[in-house]
Amino acid sequence: MIAGLSQPQKTLPPKYFYDAQGSLLFEAICRLREYYPTRCELALTRRHLGDIARFAGRGIELIEYGSGASVKSRLLLGALRPAAYVPVDISEAALQGAARRLARAFPWLELHGVVGDFMQPLTLPLYRTRSLRRRVVYFPGSTIGNLTPEEAHAFLRMTRGQVGMRGAMLVGVDLKKDANVLHAAYNDAQGVTAAFNLNLLARINRELGGDFELRRFSHYAFYNAALGRIEMHLVSLARQTVAIGPHRFGFDTGESIHTENSCKYSVEEFRALALAAGFRAERVWQDSRKYFALFGLVAG
Ligand code: AVJ
Repeated sequence: MIAGLSQPQKTLPPKYFYDAQGSLLFEAICRLREYYPTRCELALTRRHLGDIARFAGRGIELIEYGSGASVKSRLLLGALRPAAYVPVDISEAALQGAARRLARAFPWLELHGVVGDFMQPLTLPLYRTRSLRRRVVYFPGSTIGNLTPEEAHAFLRMTRGQVGMRGAMLVGVDLKKDANVLHAAYNDAQGVTAAFNLNLLARINRELGGDFELRRFSHYAFYNAALGRIEMHLVSLARQTVAIGPHRFGFDTGESIHTENSCKYSVEEFRALALAAGFRAERVWQDSRKYFALFGLVAG
């Protein structure tokens, strides 16, 4: 946090959005009329569930990165009946809640939750008896959009190493579309996205002893067409100094903290990105409006 706020363009990594409060706010975003990605991905997953299950295969080890409330995973778990499910999430509260609900809904399921940051090398449970089975990483929600294309390339490469030669990856990708649709999704009328963004400052106050005055910052999200991404910022409404413990940060009026990128791809752009990282897109499933895509990637 301190390092990010010390840069010329102040930046905070989006993973810190997701404390207990932030995870709840994100779930509220997913229910917003304007926020299409969750509904599109759920719809396409329902519609193509049979083919997705055929792609993934039987008796797999399913690892999910950023599982949150594990809503979409329920569909997959029912259809794929994996030998093991390993949800990985940075929010322990979200993970505990999800694990408890899943254990009740799928009593046959071997489930092992991992609290952690999937961008860092993780120690995953080893299923010795099933060591020959296929590993499939499930990375839905267009969480990959938080990474720049360069970072996404490195991340896909790392995942390719994790799943091995016979492994696979299911990755959800938000597609390029009318900028008005994108703008509305990140500037909802109820201000839930604004609250989600500002919670980052509230969290710094709660956990790091910061003294951000939330009313002196405002949510700003726009589509950067040149870079193909939504950018979220928190803009200082005044010239001010903020303290976090012994650290002081000066803000000019209008100066921002860049809190999130949400990169959008065309199907062809993402296919090429995956290929460069060692994955062949064997399947691409889309919703009826082609707002969102789920890629079935295999080594190749
Ligand atoms: C969870 C990263 C996919 O980029 O759309 C939602 C997060 N930020 N509204 C996204 C988010 C603002 C979301 N991802």
